[in-house]
Amino acid sequence: MRMLKMVNPYEVEDRLLLKTYVKRSIAIISGKGSEVFDDKGRRFIDLTSAYGVAILGHSNPVIVEAIVNQLKKISSCHGSFYNDARAEFLEETSRFTSRFFPKMLLVNSGAEAVDLAVKTAFRKTGRSRIVAAKRSFHGKTLGALSATWNPEYKKGLEHVLGERVVFAEYGDEEDLKSKVDEETAAVILEPVQGEGGVRIPPTGYLKAAREIASDKGALLILDEIQTGLRRTGTFFAFEKEDVAPDIALLAKGVAGGIPVGVTFFSEEASTVAEPGFHTSTYGGNPLACAAGAATMRLLRETVTRETVEERSRVFREGLEALRNLRIIREIRISGLMIGIELKVRSKPLVDLLAEKGVLVLTAGPTVVRLLPSLNIPLNLVEEACSIIFEAMRSYESRLGSSSTAG
Ligand SMILES: Cc1ncc(COP(=O)(O)O)c(C=O)c1O
Repeated sequence: MRMLKMVNPYEVEDRLLLKTYVKRSIAIISGKGSEVFDDKGRRFIDLTSAYGVAILGHSNPVIVEAIVNQLKKISSCHGSFYNDARAEFLEETSRFTSRFFPKMLLVNSGAEAVDLAVKTAFRKTGRSRIVAAKRSFHGKTLGALSATWNPEYKKGLEHVLGERVVFAEYGDEEDLKSKVDEETAAVILEPVQGEGGVRIPPTGYLKAAREIASDKGALLILDEIQTGLRRTGTFFAFEKEDVAPDIALLAKGVAGGIPVGVTFFSEEASTVAEPGFHTSTYGGNPLACAAGAATMRLLRETVTRETVEERSRVFREGLEALRNLRIIREIRISGLMIGIELKVRSKPLVDLLAEKGVLVLTAGPTVVRLLPSLNIPLNLVEEACSIIFEAMRSYESRLGSSSTAG
């Protein structure tokens, strides 16, 4: 709070930051659990968890304590040395992942985890093409961006990104089959598309993708950066389909808010590795790993599949009344990944909800997306759902019946 007397975050960020974010006019100063507070002392129910990062709530005391303790001990230790915090994080993570993946590598973001996966596929197969899905989002570094669909993000870069990636209709097994060939190094998919609008594929799609990739000697990469860590109930979303990819990716909430990405490798995919293949100064640093170990332990001990399913059910019931509104096209729910598709633009509604004290996200022009913390208290879910209903009802009446048709 003392800092605020000296700087005005609105003025300073607008003046000094390169303008690449679409800014919302709220300065978030602190957070506790599923609530955040702004510079004017306003309280918001946070249904964004900072884009799926604060999976166990903001400033979770157990994670804070682990970070503080590690800071006092040592915060930096390059991957060329061994470290106890890193070992603990690896052990805790492997409790969830070792039955699919014997190896993992620690990086710093989702996009870096994707880049590493794509590099692995190119090197492993000696091929040069990737098949991704329309509406996919895999990040914005050059490698990840090439697999991300939205042409807006690639404007002016087409000549660099080239034609390495072919996009298939998401959820369409036949279309995927027609796009994968002997030149395909990997198929990369999100088990549920997040930024693309919370799109849930038909049951069996991931299994079909597994077969299609294997048939052509391509790797299957599942990007679980948004769906993983129990977001949809199971640790990895792919577990519900009884299928395992060659490579899987996590990031966002892995370390409860400290930047970490993880790329997981099957025995076969891991054979490409050799010293120097992928390293990074910060990758697997003790501070991030201490936060990660605490997060994984909490996820194992306190947030079960039932925790997520119970909250998912309360959201489902709380949002049921929305179906009677004319502006609603569809509600899609997978665990605590929720998309409310409107027949009108979602941005004004997102702003209206913020005015009423609820923070939500968009996912494309007409979808309102909710990514709450996995341990959000049930009373906050109920409070948020009734605010959402009232806001949508008033948005609908403000629009009038003519503009809601179609
Ligand atoms: C599915 C998916 N993959 C990759 C990314 C990129 O992660 P990061 O922003 O950490 O680079 C995101 C981010 O939203 C994502 O949702």
